[in-house]
Amino acid sequence: MARTKHHSAGPALRVDAAATLVAAARAVATKRGLITDPFAEPLVRATRIGFFTRLIDGELDIFDLGDDAALARMIELFAVRSRFFDDFVATAVGHGIRQVVILASGLDARPYRLWWPPGTAVYELDQPSVIEFKTGVLRQLGATPTVNRRAVGVNLNQDWPAALRRVGFDGGEPGVWIAEGLLSGVLSPEAQDRLLDNVTALSAAGSRLAADHMPTGIQSWAEREQTLAERWRHHGLEIGLTGLTYAGRHHDVGEYLAARGWETATSNLADLFAATGLPRLRRDDLANIPVSQRYVTATRRSRHRGAAGDAGQSA
Ligand SMILES: C[S@@+](CC[C@H](N)C(=O)[O-])C[C@H]1O[C@@H](n2cnc3c(N)ncnc32)[C@H](O)[C@@H]1O
Repeated sequence: MARTKHHSAGPALRVDAAATLVAAARAVATKRGLITDPFAEPLVRATRIGFFTRLIDGELDIFDLGDDAALARMIELFAVRSRFFDDFVATAVGHGIRQVVILASGLDARPYRLWWPPGTAVYELDQPSVIEFKTGVLRQLGATPTVNRRAVGVNLNQDWPAALRRVGFDGGEPGVWIAEGLLSGVLSPEAQDRLLDNVTALSAAGSRLAADHMPTGIQSWAEREQTLAERWRHHGLEIGLTGLTYAGRHHDVGEYLAARGWETATSNLADLFAATGLPRLRRDDLANIPVSQRYVTATRRSRHRGAAGDAGQSA
């Protein structure tokens, strides 16, 4: 299926529209005190995409973006999601894992904004243009990573495991993987399976993974994007929003991993809201939100034999 991944974002900049949208939501959530991501706002401003900066400045109301309840709650949804992944990596490094891989890191700045134990390496993988953009903007801001950050500009449809190993990732040691906003149709169904197979092959016993995904059969972004794109263009979004996701039947991430040697658990959005320490988020009424997104956590089992697609890792 043909699709466009990059979108012209001003005279000199090219950055992923979805990554910018999520970062804009984090910038607003930071302003509202729901999360702390001080880099989201400058990164979004640096894209020079007026639609998103107007969103941050409150000139564009979130309710203008669409009449669907999930969009109206977009800020809170991305805020709890961000906290879920932050908490997950904090727990994993708290248990001694010292290599963290952020798949499709976008404009998130975890290697700059979180505390990391000494000796931790954080690998950020995303399209080369996104990695270059983020690294350059943060350097200009004078931000320095709080961890040994190893950024890899790579296409996740290609041989990213080789690129990851080249910069030091050790498949013989447990790692932590996070895939935030990646397994909801950003890759084709086949590419998503391949990615999970590669992650499995690189995961020593005790490795951990967290990902969000959309269960099969739920209306995906791909099916809504045309309508939303038109509405957002009306509000001045000058970059293309269509072609960001693949329709099609993606495997259920939890089931796929469980069949390949991972111990998995799945939560829904209500669980995430309940788990957050923020009363304001806890109080949020989810009644009208299609609570469709699922949040999978997984731990690589120490012994696993015979499951399809298993790469034969064992401890
Ligand atoms: C929805 S954004 C999420 C970004 C980030 N995880 C966050 O939550 O802010 C999806 C990300 O996937 C990246 N991406 C999509 N397709 C990719 C590919 N084939 N190779 C590498 N990165 C890709 C995009 O550049 C974008 O940063």
